[in-house]
Amino acid sequence: MRTFVALLPLLLILHTEGSGHGWTYPENEWSEQYPTCGGKRQSPIDIQTKRVLENKTLGPLELAGYGLQDGEFLLINNGHSIQLSLPSSMHIIGGLPQVYTAAQLHFHWGGEFHGSEHLINGVQFDSELHIVHYNSEKYGSFDEAQTKPDGLSVVTVLIQAKKGPDNIYYEKLFSHLSEIQNVGENVTLNSIDVEHMLPHDFSNFYRYQGSLTTPPCTENVIWTVLVEPATISTAQLEKLQNSIMNSNHQILQNNFREVKPLNQRRVEANFSPKKGKGKESQFRSKPKFKTAKRWQCSVN
Ligand SMILES: *[C@@H]1O[C@H](CO)[C@@H](O)[C@H](O)[C@H]1NC(C)=O
Ligand SMILES: *[C@@H]1O[C@H](CO)[C@@H](O)[C@H](O)[C@H]1NC(C)=O
Ligand SMILES: [Zn+2]
Repeated sequence: MRTFVALLPLLLILHTEGSGHGWTYPENEWSEQYPTCGGKRQSPIDIQTKRVLENKTLGPLELAGYGLQDGEFLLINNGHSIQLSLPSSMHIIGGLPQVYTAAQLHFHWGGEFHGSEHLINGVQFDSELHIVHYNSEKYGSFDEAQTKPDGLSVVTVLIQAKKGPDNIYYEKLFSHLSEIQNVGENVTLNSIDVEHMLPHDFSNFYRYQGSLTTPPCTENVIWTVLVEPATISTAQLEKLQNSIMNSNHQILQNNFREVKPLNQRRVEANFSPKKGKGKESQFRSKPKFKTAKRWQCSVN
């Protein structure tokens, strides 16, 4: 019995590392094990809209197969987020240099405060949805593409929570959170509708070259950050913040990475950032404390 008790912590450590969950939030020394995490083209970033350059040739995002689909789609607690596997019939066919095929989507969230990864003018949103794609024009699979310099593309939906009714499209996922509390637990959804998880107007976006925001932080991601946020209810946000356990059997919260310097990169937009679609008024209503605090962290 004594031997068993003594071994238990060791077994937990081995299990944690062996299953590839050896990194945690907040980011600490990721670059020791994953050197690229210390690179010069990392994500997320704080998008300073005054410095964004319009690029008309980016065009609109054209999506195919994003609507309602029947099938079997795995929703899993991977210890860092909840992740939904997406079918290879979902593509981005316009607005990127090549055709990209969807692989999975997952979320980032906070605890007591906001939890998006990207900031807009220093403002953090409540949560962030990442729809991860790979370059299927050049590569045969996600696994092959993920090591290539032009391999990946992520569409980001910033999420704000408001008092009011649930967002029924997000609820299709969130209603299963209690079934995947522990790491590795999963459920199979028999339909998905990612199109309706996007904001009503997804025509305007920011574009920059960055990295995965989790180890190995590979710098091969074309980022598309939609300007318009999506809205869920505050009850849904609270459920997301309080349902999922990490591999240390603690509630998984604040699974976002701090913003990284832009360095030599440019952020472009497929619209004129100065003219229309300014979202200033919406930012003013955000809670003050966290915004002010994050502002300091986000100065590059
Ligand atoms: C504008 O976007 C196009 C398409 O992605 C790209 O080839 C071009 O380099 C960009 N132009 C500028 C000035 O950045
Ligand atoms: C999903 O959970 C089941 C147990 O309910 C497990 O056998 C299976 O390996 C899990 N699937 C994945 C992909 O992790
Ligand atoms: Zn992500």
